Amino acid sequence: MPGAEDGFEVTPWGVRGSIDYDRLTERFGTERLGGELLGRLRRLAGEDHFMLRRGIFFSHRDLGRALDAHEDGRGFFLYTGRGPSGGTHIGHLVPWVFAKWLQDRFGATMYFQLTDDEKFYSKKGMTLEEARGHAYENALDFVALGFDPGKTRIILDTEHIRTLYPLAAKVAAKINYSNTKAAFGFTGETSIGMIFYTALQSAPCFLEDRPVLIPLGVDQDPHFRLTRDVAPKLGLEKPALIHNVMIPGLRGPGGKMSASDASDALYTTDDPDTVKKKINRRAFSGGQADVEAHRRLGGDTDVDVSYQYLRMFFEPDDAKLARIRDGYRSGSVTTGELKAVLIGAANRFLEGHQKRREEARGMLGRFVLEEGGARWPER
Ligand code: TRP
Repeated sequence: MPGAEDGFEVTPWGVRGSIDYDRLTERFGTERLGGELLGRLRRLAGEDHFMLRRGIFFSHRDLGRALDAHEDGRGFFLYTGRGPSGGTHIGHLVPWVFAKWLQDRFGATMYFQLTDDEKFYSKKGMTLEEARGHAYENALDFVALGFDPGKTRIILDTEHIRTLYPLAAKVAAKINYSNTKAAFGFTGETSIGMIFYTALQSAPCFLEDRPVLIPLGVDQDPHFRLTRDVAPKLGLEKPALIHNVMIPGLRGPGGKMSASDASDALYTTDDPDTVKKKINRRAFSGGQADVEAHRRLGGDTDVDVSYQYLRMFFEPDDAKLARIRDGYRSGSVTTGELKAVLIGAANRFLEGHQKRREEARGMLGRFVLEEGGARWPER
């Protein structure tokens, strides 16, 4: 795998080791998000977002071009997706929450791709029917975040192939096996479905005749590196990307929250007691071995998963977060107390989310892409 010698590995199908984001930016060839461009994004959005302030979104490709399109009146559209391998956890919600903010601030249309085919190919033992079932449940979480039904379309690969395939075919024609092998580390044993799949993930980039901006976990970047190589050869516009860091699993640091390990992730459907138990039993602590040492030396917020979840997702209020951070670092807040803060915040969020998620069941029809337009043979 390219770059494994740095002690960490990031591919669309797995993260190993503890990620050095400076090195990853170099390895992937993306740009750090900061300085003038970040200021411009905030100015055009008309407000700041805590995920920008805290570097949760840390890198980009061509964000400036998407903003140019916004300023010259053409606008950009948004696209992100989910491989339905299981329930939705907090890590999945990060780019979606940010995408919802972008939709509100820029009035952009949004496409959400559910890649049931991808997970059927890549997850041993998963049937296509199971992947479709997860896709439906994942879609509820997406809709629950409050996207505008008039401006948002959900795409399921095996359902909406008529829309996707002509675009995927054009992309696929320009990618050869060596390209995919270099990008993803495929071998002779890789399913041919996986080898083609990247073309399907590219397809939504070209659904509208203007640039797309994709908020996404940085692990998905390799797909769009290929898309960006191919786009000019097809006379199409390169996608712009804005990348978020990987959210650690409860046992963190290193790796990412994975949908295939129920005890390591906070799911959107977990009940209050499950949340409490998971956090108390599993959340990796940056605290000292005993309370006496903790009072004296304080805790390490950089590795403490409870603190990181508050920073990355559950506590948007900077002043409150700073109080928690200072208290924990100085030792006046113990690990038990910090966990209690996270449990409270997570359960408050989930209570509202789960209510909206149930309401979403009756709304899904308004979000699912309808494939109208030309049919063959013409009718
Ligand atoms: N491959 C992604 C996953 O496994 C799903 C996905 C499809 C996606 N299209 C996307 C993710 C666009 C980010 C942006 O989760």
